[in-house]
Amino acid sequence: MHQSSLSQIVIIPNPSIVKIKFTRNAQLPTVSVERNDITIGRLDDGMPFRLDLEDFFRHVYIVGAIGSGKSKTITKLVVELKNLSNKKKAQVVVDPKQDLARDLSIYADYYSDASIPNFLVNPLKFPRVYINREDNISLGVSISVAILEKQLGLVETAVNVKYIFQVLLSKLYQKTDNPTLSNIYELVLALRNEELDLDTNDEIFEKEVEALQQMPAQSFISLLSRLKPFVENRVLNAVTSTSTINWDEILQDNALILFDVNKGKLGETPSYLVRASVLTSLVYWVLQRSIKSNDRMSILTYIDEFQNVAHLPYI
Ligand SMILES: Nc1ncnc2c1ncn2[C@@H]1O[C@H](COP(=O)(O)OP(=O)(O)O)[C@@H](O)[C@H]1O
Ligand SMILES: [Mg+2]
Repeated sequence: MHQSSLSQIVIIPNPSIVKIKFTRNAQLPTVSVERNDITIGRLDDGMPFRLDLEDFFRHVYIVGAIGSGKSKTITKLVVELKNLSNKKKAQVVVDPKQDLARDLSIYADYYSDASIPNFLVNPLKFPRVYINREDNISLGVSISVAILEKQLGLVETAVNVKYIFQVLLSKLYQKTDNPTLSNIYELVLALRNEELDLDTNDEIFEKEVEALQQMPAQSFISLLSRLKPFVENRVLNAVTSTSTINWDEILQDNALILFDVNKGKLGETPSYLVRASVLTSLVYWVLQRSIKSNDRMSILTYIDEFQNVAHLPYI
């Protein structure tokens, strides 16, 4: 719609005329809202500040400088909601720094520690969301590419590398529900050496392979060199080889599930990969549930250090 026709319906404030005031250290406004479920603190005038479970049904962001109390606020919210037993919900916390997970450990029903590890999660696990396999392939490939882009530090322009990855993963999804980064690595190597034999009668794929083989060697080397650390890192390779999280079993009413994915112990990029994989696995489960059942128990998911995963398409 053109601005002139739009302004007939609604008056758009002109920022040069309507000044917006920014304030620091201001008191929270004392609006009286009917909230009863949990109390998270007191306002300056001593009034308790309350929230309802329903306040968390939309995305909530907690923003502040380092040390301003973001993680402590999450801890408080989780504990208070855990004590609220008359409303159905489950809580999942994904923590890259261990402080939050440690503070909450006494309340946890499941403590998943990636550094032991006591759970496995494959970022490329085939989503079982839709009935049609092709739809699941599209979903799985698009989310995997987003994870890979960040994990491998691919820039917007790395179209060749992304395309190689997309073609190979789509093909793998036709054969297996559990392709791994190592599988991709092996396929890229075979493709580069013109030894790729996936035993298919898939004409489109054959053509795609021909197109891939025309690509400059640099594209293959680029992908191989970036995948190699993940193939060689034994711990990471083991953690991301398959998935053992059974959401059906653990997401019971009022359950608190912690994922301690300490980037200090695991390293920044492996920690990212595991966190992104856990969140993806949960999103697939929720999507599947929304299609297959009427169960709408809320799953509150807390992501500390959220900026690391903000690029994922479903967030
Ligand atoms: N409401 C509070 N009252 C007193 N101390 C607090 C409060 N919130 C946080 N702290 C303390 O401040 C420090 C930083 O808090 P933290 O939640 O880790 O900050 P952030 O996650 O924003 O970096 C911690 O030592 C914590 O115990
Ligand atoms: Mg913090």
